[in-house]
Amino acid sequence: MQILDGNLVSKATKEALTLKVAQLKAQGKKVPHLAAVLVGNNGASETYVGAKVKACEEIGYKSTLLRYDDDISEFKLLEAIEGLNNDPDVDGILVQLPLPKHISDEKVINTIAASKDVDGFHPISVGKMVQGLSTFIPATPYGIMLLLKHYNIDTAGKQAVVIGRSNIVGRPMSILLSANTNPGNCTVTICHSHTKNLKELCLSADIIVAALGRPEFVKEDMVKEGAIVIDVGISRVPDATKKKGFALKGDVNFAEVSPKCSFITPVPGGVGPMTIAALMQNTYKACEDKNVL
Ligand SMILES: NC(=O)c1ccc[n+]([C@@H]2O[C@H](COP(=O)([O-])OP(=O)(O)OC[C@H]3O[C@@H](n4cnc5c(N)ncnc54)[C@H](OP(=O)(O)O)[C@@H]3O)[C@@H](O)[C@H]2O)c1
Repeated sequence: MQILDGNLVSKATKEALTLKVAQLKAQGKKVPHLAAVLVGNNGASETYVGAKVKACEEIGYKSTLLRYDDDISEFKLLEAIEGLNNDPDVDGILVQLPLPKHISDEKVINTIAASKDVDGFHPISVGKMVQGLSTFIPATPYGIMLLLKHYNIDTAGKQAVVIGRSNIVGRPMSILLSANTNPGNCTVTICHSHTKNLKELCLSADIIVAALGRPEFVKEDMVKEGAIVIDVGISRVPDATKKKGFALKGDVNFAEVSPKCSFITPVPGGVGPMTIAALMQNTYKACEDKNVL
């Protein structure tokens, strides 16, 4: 069994971007600028946005964090996004989800200029991804593809089961794994809460991507010998022994499942850091595309 080390690959990806930024600076060119929008003070969202801003600093990107109280009106938030769309210095915009209930995720995502949509959630980005055109790929699935590529994992012809069909993880993951690319060329089954024979499907899978948000859902008796298991889940489970009062758990029971795997991602230290690295790649692309035009 080999661990797919997201910390290691994320570090290498960020180091490569750091070099590119140094070159841009040496040529007197603009460096990538990511604007992050955070509404409210959800603990997990604060952590994710903090990690994204920190990654920008490490690489040498410019970053701006716009913070709003959770009672901001939808109109005001959309206005703020329009402001970022119209700011020529801003290359990428990310709005941390989830948003308060009175704000429509869909309206917010659709308001972000497609050319600055570094989260890859805008319908234009999604449409281009489905067609295999150059675009912003949603960061978590993109990070998983970068991880598979780094470890030279041959996915062609493999049976892949993706558990979860969200627009940010499961659905784009299924599209990328089925694309005629490397990694890719899998035969993909996408599962959700209505799937009846999930255990049988998982047992037949060469690759399992667990993205359902149910701690330790995937157990030893659901995984075949030699499978590749990608654990996307991050759940905060109460744990009095931890300083913060919670432990982070993936969607896979790592202790049970890992001995059967050829490759597996840990939680933490697997998909999470790769998500940040992929966002940084997308931000570089946003700036690069603009310089080309
Ligand atoms: N590592 C990272 O960087 C990263 C990034 C994003 C998300 N995550 C984590 O990944 C997990 C999933 O996130 P998400 O945003 O995709 O979640 P989500 O929007 O809640 O989607 C969950 C999906 O799982 C399906 N599902 C739920 N229970 C199921 C069950 N018992 N059997 C089969 N399918 C089931 C749901 O089916 P229905 O569609 O039928 O409801 C849904 O499609 C969460 O733990 C999240 O925190 C991690």
